[in-house]
Amino acid sequence: MNNDINRREFLKMSGAAAASLNVHSTPALVAPLAPIAPIANVRIGMVGVGLQGGSHLENFLKIPGCRITAVCDIREERTTWATQEITAAGQAAPAVYARGPRDFERLCETEDLDLVFTATPWEWHVPVMLAAMKSGKHAATEVPAAMTLDDCWALVESAEKYSRHAVMMENCNYDRPEMMVMNIVRQGLLGDVLHAEGGYLHDLREIKFEKRDEGLWRRAWSRKLNGNPYPTHGLGPVANCLDINRGDRFDYIVSMSGPSRGLSDWARDHFPADAPERQEKFTLGDVNTSLIKTALGKTIVVQHCTNLPRPYSRIHMVQGTKGLFQGYPNRLYIEGRGENDRWVDAATVRSEFDHPLWIAIEKRAAGAGHGGMDYIEDYRLIQCLRAGLPTDMNVYDAAALSAVVDLSVKSTAARSRSIEFPDFTRGRWRTNPRLEISGEL
Ligand SMILES: NC(=O)c1ccc[n+]([C@@H]2O[C@H](COP(=O)([O-])OP(=O)(O)OC[C@H]3O[C@@H](n4cnc5c(N)ncnc54)[C@H](O)[C@@H]3O)[C@@H](O)[C@H]2O)c1
Repeated sequence: MNNDINRREFLKMSGAAAASLNVHSTPALVAPLAPIAPIANVRIGMVGVGLQGGSHLENFLKIPGCRITAVCDIREERTTWATQEITAAGQAAPAVYARGPRDFERLCETEDLDLVFTATPWEWHVPVMLAAMKSGKHAATEVPAAMTLDDCWALVESAEKYSRHAVMMENCNYDRPEMMVMNIVRQGLLGDVLHAEGGYLHDLREIKFEKRDEGLWRRAWSRKLNGNPYPTHGLGPVANCLDINRGDRFDYIVSMSGPSRGLSDWARDHFPADAPERQEKFTLGDVNTSLIKTALGKTIVVQHCTNLPRPYSRIHMVQGTKGLFQGYPNRLYIEGRGENDRWVDAATVRSEFDHPLWIAIEKRAAGAGHGGMDYIEDYRLIQCLRAGLPTDMNVYDAAALSAVVDLSVKSTAARSRSIEFPDFTRGRWRTNPRLEISGEL
């Protein structure tokens, strides 16, 4: 009954909203943008329960209002581990799918689930999401959602066709400094945001050469493409500050890669002369830099560097007409506050600008993956599904942010020629409401 009422209300809203937009070429507003029926207890099927999937699984076991009723992995030891974790948390043993790389299709077809959540290697995100939506489930994926423009469109079209959420789980959007900056921006303290920079600068050489976990698939992508294969950690948070898909949108990109040296140097220094790793040829430039221009004329720098020795950074710079925030280390400058020409250590203003959600949830998130931000993103996903609210990140965001992979490859291959982003929202970016993340639990 409750569901019927909400469904009717949603259809009414969708029609009214579409009419007010006066866009006849686009489908009526669907789950990606409009509320859907609340789900009291979210039944989750997890596909890929390795390092990151396992960490999400542990979060979901602590989040009220959801349970994991099915698990899938190509490695039986991981489904066994997941089953142990789930039963130890007092939930019923999940249905297990471990009959190979396409067994997620059987899971999607067979199980009665609300959400399929995938933390598989990159090449499997889209097949799992499409199978989930086709069988009537909402879908969530680890980052990036898709590696090609065609797959970005496939996600958008499927979410619209089946009226399902297709969420990309960008945990860095929920890290404490990122949420604090969003709070500062929303309060207008940086003025109009004109420029931002973000990236994923993380020495992964050792991990890429491991004979387990990410080493089994991530290095392969460094042999397949040259561009930015992993743009969303740096780009997601600054896109929120720039209201991408909600008042502005990515318009075009130029991208450039430097030489590829880091992985072959690592192989030379760590493997014997006859090791197959020494023969591998890498295409991924060690440092890739992209510049994105938005429809409103703003600029974003996105960088990727995972093959060279360096301390970790996501850059995280947001600059407006009244000041700027710069990450790594976190510092703030607001004209008229403090001394001219001097950074303020962000730690000294945290009590003033901390995001209310972090204050509310801090204790529960303690000890969870990546400093607690993974718990908060999982919590928000379940909270939105339970309340029937649009998710913080929708399929259009997943597509726009992930499109940087393919577009950076294309621009890099074409002597950094500028390449246009598709408008996945088909014009709705002009009227979509700004993202607000509530601090209420
Ligand atoms: N957001 C973050 O901070 C973060 C951190 C690490 C990884 N990730 C993302 O998480 C995903 C997984 O990374 P990881 O580090 O957990 O890697 P992993 O190799 O530890 O885990 C991947 C799991 O997927 C399983 N798998 C592979 N193909 C499958 C298939 N077809 N069907 C079912 N299971 C399959 C593997 O057996 C493994 O257990 C990637 O997309 C990665 O980019 C995100």
